[in-house]
Amino acid sequence: MDRPGWAPEGIDLTRPSSARLYDYFLGGAHNFAVDRELARQIVAITPSVGEAMRANRSFLRRAVRYLAGQGIRQFLDIGSGIPTVGNVHEVAQQDAPDSRVVYVDRDPVAVAHSRAILQGNERAAVLQLDLREPERIVTEAQQTGLIDFTEPVGLLLITVLHFISDADDPAGIVACLRDPLPARSHLAVTHVTYENQPPEILQAYELSKHTPEPIIPRSHAEIAAYFDGSTLVEPGLVDIPLWRPDTPDDLDEPPRRSNALAGIGRKG
Ligand SMILES: C[S@@+](CC[C@H](N)C(=O)[O-])C[C@H]1O[C@@H](n2cnc3c(N)ncnc32)[C@H](O)[C@@H]1O
Repeated sequence: MDRPGWAPEGIDLTRPSSARLYDYFLGGAHNFAVDRELARQIVAITPSVGEAMRANRSFLRRAVRYLAGQGIRQFLDIGSGIPTVGNVHEVAQQDAPDSRVVYVDRDPVAVAHSRAILQGNERAAVLQLDLREPERIVTEAQQTGLIDFTEPVGLLLITVLHFISDADDPAGIVACLRDPLPARSHLAVTHVTYENQPPEILQAYELSKHTPEPIIPRSHAEIAAYFDGSTLVEPGLVDIPLWRPDTPDDLDEPPRRSNALAGIGRKG
C-alpha cells in the first residue's frame, strides 16, 4: 500500500494504531486499510463499538465545558488523538476564548494533524511525548509557556490510561501528573472496565491483545484510585453516558452502556 500524502514519513502502514482506529470509528479519514480491517473484526464481535466511542467523545465535550464553568483556563490533554469534531481547544475557547491547551500524543499521525490545525493558534500546542514519561510531559508542557502550574489546570486523560500496562504503573504515572497540580485543578478520566460487561466485550479485549496497543480493562476500584487526593464531583465514577448527560443523544432510555467509566476529580 502507498503512503497517503497526509501520513508522516516512516510510518508503518502494516500495523494498526489506536489513534487511527478511533479516527475511523468517529467517521474520520486519517486511517489505513490495516486499521479498517481491525475495525471490521471488532465490529463483528461488538457492533456497538462505534456508539461507545462517540459516547466517549461526547463526554470529552461535556467535561471541557464543565471545567471551563469551574474557571479552568488551561488544559493538558494527554492521549489527545487525531483532531476531529469538537477538539478541546475549540470547545474551551468557545466558552472562554483565553483558554490555553497543550495536546500530548505519541502517535505521529495524531501529532502531525494537530500541528496542522493549530497553525496560527497562539493558545494551543502539541507535543509528541509518551504518557509513560510523565515528568517530561510536566516539564515540556510548562516550557510551551501555555501551562502554568501555579494556576488550576484541567488534566485530561481520556481513553488513554487503558493502554498503559500494569508493569508501567498507571497509578504512579497519574500521581506524577496529579501531584504538581495546584488546588482547584481537575482531573478527567475515561477508562474501559471489565466489570459488568457482556461476554462479547470481554472477547474484544482479548482480540486487542494481538494488536500493537492492547487494551487493559480495569475495575471500578482501580480506576477510582487514579483520583486519590481529589474529590470526585457528582455523579462520581459512572458509566460514560450517565456522567451529566446534556442531550437525549448522550443518554437513551434505558441508559446505553459504554463499557467504560468516566469521572472528574477536583483537587483541594
Ligand atoms: C482512543 S484515542 C483517544 C483520543 C481522545 N483522548 C478522545 O478520547 O477523544 C487514544 C489516544 O491515546 C494515544 N496513546 C496511547 N498510548 C499512549 C501513550 N503511552 N502516550 C501518549 N499517547 C498515547 C493514542 O495514540 C491515541 O491517539
